Amino acid sequence: MKNKSMIFTLLALLLGSQSLLKANSNPDSLSLPLKPGQIAVNTDQIVAPIQPTMYGIFFEDINFGADGGLYAELVKNRSFEFDSPMMGWEQPASDRFSMNDKSGFAVPVKYAESGANKNYLNVKVNAASGYRLVNSGFKGMGFKEGLRYDFSVIAKQESGSTTLHVELLDENEKVLATTAIALGGNQWKEYTASLKPSARAMKGKLNIRFEGKSVVDLDVVSLFPSDTWKGRPKGLRADLVQLLADLHPGFLRFPGGCIVEGRTLALRYQWKKTVGNVNDRELLINRWNNEFAHRPAPDYFQTFGLGFFEYFQLSEDIGATPLPILSCGMACQFNTAELVPMDEIDPYVQDALDLIEFANGPVTSTWGKLRSDMGHPAPFNLKFIGVGNEQWGPEYISRYKVFEKAIHSKYPDVQIVSGAGPFPEGEMFEFGWEQLKELNAQIVDEHYYRAPQWFLENANRYDSYDRRGPKIFAGEYAAQSVAIASPDNKNNWDCALGEAAFMTGLERNADVVYMTSYAPLFAHAEGWQWTPDLIWFNNLESYGTPNYYVQKLFANNAGNQLLRITEDGQPVIGQSGLYATATLDEKAKEIVFKIVNASAFEQSFSINVSGKKTLGTKGTMTVLANNNLNAVNSFENPKSIYPTSKEVSFKGKNISLSLVPKSVNVVRVPYKI
Ligand code: AHR
Repeated sequence: MKNKSMIFTLLALLLGSQSLLKANSNPDSLSLPLKPGQIAVNTDQIVAPIQPTMYGIFFEDINFGADGGLYAELVKNRSFEFDSPMMGWEQPASDRFSMNDKSGFAVPVKYAESGANKNYLNVKVNAASGYRLVNSGFKGMGFKEGLRYDFSVIAKQESGSTTLHVELLDENEKVLATTAIALGGNQWKEYTASLKPSARAMKGKLNIRFEGKSVVDLDVVSLFPSDTWKGRPKGLRADLVQLLADLHPGFLRFPGGCIVEGRTLALRYQWKKTVGNVNDRELLINRWNNEFAHRPAPDYFQTFGLGFFEYFQLSEDIGATPLPILSCGMACQFNTAELVPMDEIDPYVQDALDLIEFANGPVTSTWGKLRSDMGHPAPFNLKFIGVGNEQWGPEYISRYKVFEKAIHSKYPDVQIVSGAGPFPEGEMFEFGWEQLKELNAQIVDEHYYRAPQWFLENANRYDSYDRRGPKIFAGEYAAQSVAIASPDNKNNWDCALGEAAFMTGLERNADVVYMTSYAPLFAHAEGWQWTPDLIWFNNLESYGTPNYYVQKLFANNAGNQLLRITEDGQPVIGQSGLYATATLDEKAKEIVFKIVNASAFEQSFSINVSGKKTLGTKGTMTVLANNNLNAVNSFENPKSIYPTSKEVSFKGKNISLSLVPKSVNVVRVPYKI
């Protein structure tokens, strides 16, 4: 097959549709209106602590999640480093095929053959006015009325003198803001200016008009909104970070995903190329650029303005433990499956050791100093590191062993996350698990992209896992309404409800399940490659899917001690359409019940609470529900499926509840000891 990426697509779609063939995604058929049995909980019997890392997030630069998304830069191809150096740029007033262009023309020029800064733009301005350069950003630029936008460019005047008229245009080329910058001097120099648009535009553009017959060189043409997260100059999009912060995630896994592995080893993610001065970070083609023939994204590159320092900083900002994942010397096995020979693996291992030093080392160490020079002398408190993403086979195990030995010899307290491959069952999964168990692996990452019905049926997945074996990281999961990565997948209520039911199973097994995260996290409404996704955004707006609100309900109500909740002595795993888990939140002094009613019927029952604790008479109940399994949230209706809370009253030690059909419910009951 010519294009190996097709293999990934076909395999993914095939496996996805197979799992759907077996599945019936309608929970109604599972749950006749059966009356629940005796539901009981003993508040004195603690099963296990809930790990602070239980509910986290997984960020990968897919679906324009970083450039064009979280990283707030508005200019696409700002340094002319894309494979086609003029991609993203237009010269509307120029005839590029004429030697004697009347207004002027620009050509990319190479500084160097390799490295971070290969190209700049040489502009010949042939007339006093008329020549212009336009950048339309990532699917247009979003401008907010009255907000300050910060423009910067690095320029060198070759001859004559140039004035740049920097303008923000709306989709009809109406000028919303304008400012002028007079260039001068034949040395590279940064020029800055600020602009405030007079109106909002969803698909605006940056227009640079050149005045003065002259020759000028340009590089790193940049435009950022000033309302970034924490107001950091050239920072992250605040609305998107806020959605993450609202989850109170226990950890942040980054930067992938398949991004880590690369299609070839040469195209793998190398963290060292993503730190230090932003302008010196070497661009890389995004591996999702042309992965899916049905969603090509030829303009998808990684500038690494969002690099490893920023990931650590983001983790710190939102109170999440950082979990970086590194290449283990295996390129994506769905693509080229290139392997680094075992006797050449040292640089890969060294990258892992150096990363730990970058995150935690003293400011006197080589990499600790870089962290400090970048503005963070205090350590980032790295406790976890991932070796490989979705690797499988003996090649993975032999490479994992080398990493494990090297990391634990130097950093015995850093926990290593290993992987069980891309699928939640099957030969490669079994092999990986058997080997990792034998090697006393600490945390094993499992991925499941399956039908909603699979999630309902697997709420008991971890009930039988060996309690003495490795702990579980459910690192990537999402119910697929059609098939794995199908462009027709929807973030509908059917999927979110299935995930919620499954999550009660993750939490009920908190003695073995230590970390969990939905995937993928972000998608640009026009720039996506993969569906479903937790958070959708366009150039100005963003919204959480029903799946997001499920994640939020679980993460914000995790509690810290697991209790055993039973129905007639058995785990509550769908016998009557109900799925349940119970925890103690010792800080708030509340018992927290999460109960999913996946059935099409209202379910009324009471929970018998035993134990020494005295229950309060008033608590809260938060409900996320919809009667329509196909319902979704959208830009127009972002809160179509949205949690509502109310006060509820209880008498004595029987908590009477009535759960509406197809609902996720969180009930918090105060207690005294
Ligand atoms: O989440 C999308 C992709 O799914 C990830 O990059 C990869 O790990 C998995 O196959």
